[in-house]
Amino acid sequence: MAAIRVIINGAKGRMGQEASKAVQAEEGLELVAMADFGDNLVQLIADKNAQVVVDFTTASVVYETAKTIIGAGVHPVIGTSGLLPEQVEELQKLSNAKSLGGLIAPNFAIGAVLMMKFAKDAVRYFPDVEIIELHHDRKADAPSGTAVKTMNMLAEAREKAPNPRTEKEILAGARGASDRGIHVHSVRLPGLVAHQEVIFGGLSETLTIRHDSIHRESFMPGVCLSCRKVMDLNELIYGLEHVL
Ligand SMILES: NC(=O)c1ccc[n+]([C@@H]2O[C@H](COP(=O)([O-])OP(=O)(O)OC[C@H]3O[C@@H](n4cnc5c(N)ncnc54)[C@H](O)[C@@H]3O)[C@@H](O)[C@H]2O)c1
Repeated sequence: MAAIRVIINGAKGRMGQEASKAVQAEEGLELVAMADFGDNLVQLIADKNAQVVVDFTTASVVYETAKTIIGAGVHPVIGTSGLLPEQVEELQKLSNAKSLGGLIAPNFAIGAVLMMKFAKDAVRYFPDVEIIELHHDRKADAPSGTAVKTMNMLAEAREKAPNPRTEKEILAGARGASDRGIHVHSVRLPGLVAHQEVIFGGLSETLTIRHDSIHRESFMPGVCLSCRKVMDLNELIYGLEHVL
């Protein structure tokens, strides 16, 4: 069977470089172009007869880029964080109207997907939960896409309300950001890659579920798997867990 023809967009970036290497090394995938800022993606898609575009760019351009990819009729594999829920919905409408398979994944690491799954199970027993996400100091957005996705999953799966909070912040932001009673704290430091803890508090006990990506190659099996899976889908999926 012919190899799947893949373009990496954002190929000069940290994730883009790693994804280019991974796709090049993966049997059944062919890296046909490495695109970055200033390149004409639509032209490249046509010239290279691409079937999949993997996007690791930035939050400010990902929505328009995803629309461009879908508009060109190729399968999107979107790893860039920062898409708003209504933008994800709009992209799903556009893609689904064309029966075009695609995937948006806030996190391509298998361990991170499991962390979210286990956290979703735990919140049914422990409604009091906070998230600490830790990333390298050049990450453009906060909180991370993974933290936002975890928050949404926890808020939806929670069956009991958390204890009401009464504390006063002496220093603004000390309690992090909060959505539906779930606090999220973003740590940015050199030396980190991508890490997250979900901490549950109960009666005289706590439960911590932690995932660490210690190198960007941790995301690559998920990226390569997604490039294959989108070829057989006829809708735009949100979350790697749906194709594992
Ligand atoms: N889904 C995941 O598993 C996962 C994991 C890690 C990082 N990320 C996300 O991936 C994205 C990229 O992260 P990074 O660390 O590689 O960032 P980076 O800043 O190193 O790379 C971004 C690249 O995108 C390019 N770019 C910017 N605008 C562009 C445009 N309009 N068209 C084409 N290229 C453009 C930049 O020139 C740069 O080369 C971020 O949003 C990050 O949060 C996702």
